[in-house]
Amino acid sequence: MPGRREFLIGSTAGLAALRLKWPPLSSQLTTSRIADSHIDVLLSEPLSTISPNIYGHFTENLGGVIYDGVWVGEDSKVPNQYGIRSALIEQLRRIKASVIRWPGGCFADSYDWRDGVGPRENRPRRTNFWNGSPQSPAIHKYDPNQFGTDDFVRFCRLTGAEPYLAANVRSLPAEEFDHWVEYCNSPEGSTSLADLRKAGGSPQPFNVRYWGVGNESWGCGGEFTAQEYAVEFRRYSTWLPRYGQHLQLIPSGPNDDDWTWTRAFLEEITQKRPAHPSGIYGLALHHYAWDLSRGIPQIGTTGNGDAIKFEPVDWYELLHQGSLMEGLIEGHWQVMGEFDKNHDIKLIVDEWGPSYRAGSEATPGDILEQTPTLRDAVFGGMTLDTFNRHPEKVAMANCAQLINCLNSLYLAHEDRFVVTPVGRVFEMYTAHQGNQALRTMMAAPQVHYDRDGKPATFWGLQGSASLANKKLVLTVVNPHVSEPRLTEIAIRGAAGKSGTVTTLTSPDIHAHNTFDQPNTLIPKRDNINVKGPTLIYEFPPASVSALQIELV
Ligand code: AHR
Repeated sequence: MPGRREFLIGSTAGLAALRLKWPPLSSQLTTSRIADSHIDVLLSEPLSTISPNIYGHFTENLGGVIYDGVWVGEDSKVPNQYGIRSALIEQLRRIKASVIRWPGGCFADSYDWRDGVGPRENRPRRTNFWNGSPQSPAIHKYDPNQFGTDDFVRFCRLTGAEPYLAANVRSLPAEEFDHWVEYCNSPEGSTSLADLRKAGGSPQPFNVRYWGVGNESWGCGGEFTAQEYAVEFRRYSTWLPRYGQHLQLIPSGPNDDDWTWTRAFLEEITQKRPAHPSGIYGLALHHYAWDLSRGIPQIGTTGNGDAIKFEPVDWYELLHQGSLMEGLIEGHWQVMGEFDKNHDIKLIVDEWGPSYRAGSEATPGDILEQTPTLRDAVFGGMTLDTFNRHPEKVAMANCAQLINCLNSLYLAHEDRFVVTPVGRVFEMYTAHQGNQALRTMMAAPQVHYDRDGKPATFWGLQGSASLANKKLVLTVVNPHVSEPRLTEIAIRGAAGKSGTVTTLTSPDIHAHNTFDQPNTLIPKRDNINVKGPTLIYEFPPASVSALQIELV
């Protein structure tokens, strides 16, 4: 079978003697080589369960995300279900979409949920918070409110995901938050808002569990100080109507490494309820990565680096910014522990991804849209692995954003639709959802590169492992732009009997998918010959790999 890798299996001690039958690819000679990298998967050190919600999504009413991306309208020629793009529904089912956040982002703190319910023809047009660019279509600048709460919940139900709604704290009173919860969750026939919901075609309550209370309240969500916001959070969240639901409330948390926000917010919250700071499901954390080798982005822009045209230094610098995620999780977790000893409150990384300057939009006029490349696939794999390594801390994460925006899984315009390399990585990582995470050690030579004439380094291999039903899932990224990593993988505490590997890579680090060439970068699946506790595998340069190994 072309591309099939067959190896002789050996123990760590016998590594030097390992011989491998090289795959029939380029210069396929049977040769002897020594592994330069090592992965130890420790079955005796299980971590927590990987929440499927780590594989969550974000759809803001911003640019082409909702209008064009998600919503095409019931009368559209674009195949749709109840006005929602069918191709998107199909893809989200494939990747087992767990949770979707809406309507923002910054948009959330300008949104009146009442504008989006009731007969469509009566809904008001409003100036969108994201007022577009001169090239943007009017529907992006002036929100027609054709896609509202019922449509969003239907979208979630069609995909199998749970809805996560973000309430407006900046520009609506707390009473309106109560009413939105009432509209969504009060039983049929119980309230006037339940009747309004029924009149719109949904007699049964939506039972929405996840509620964000504002967004980036330190910035576009009201420019609050952490103390001010904590007071607002209490006011908005105390005595919310529950209807038998255990509401999972998500306060606006820190940006990047703003430990002060986390500390000051929790200090204020726990002053009032020292023993039980909870009622809070998780603190939101946002981290976007910029290519800082191109300078600090100007305020109001989305980044300095180009999404498609970049040098290896930009590749590494961007990945470096993304890899800060691990320290952010650990750092905020530590601060949270000062106030919440049992760690009842988790982290919700509800916006993450790289951000580039404008210019790579698949559809001109779609603000904040960028075309993801192989670099973003590696970034995505690296980030999902990071979440998998901290399953007791990260309860949910939402890639920003699902379609036609930053770091999108999909790009769409009218009847055109393409899965990006980021979407491909989500497909490859689906197998981790709900599994038991396993402690996994990786050692590999560092990457050395030149940054402005100065030597710089980056880690060599990273990944994560999980287990379910005697099936081991191991995902690994090799960030080196040109060197493969020949790796001894040791499964400590079990033996493998068969396996497959799915790989996303390309000789061109700029590879990306477009409407015209949708399959430039797609995963390839091969069998791997696994017999016993150890195997040798070569991770290609600039790659994301997902190994699935059946254990004896
Ligand atoms: O994802 C785009 C924007 O980035 C969101 O609206 C905001 O929360 C963040 O600053």
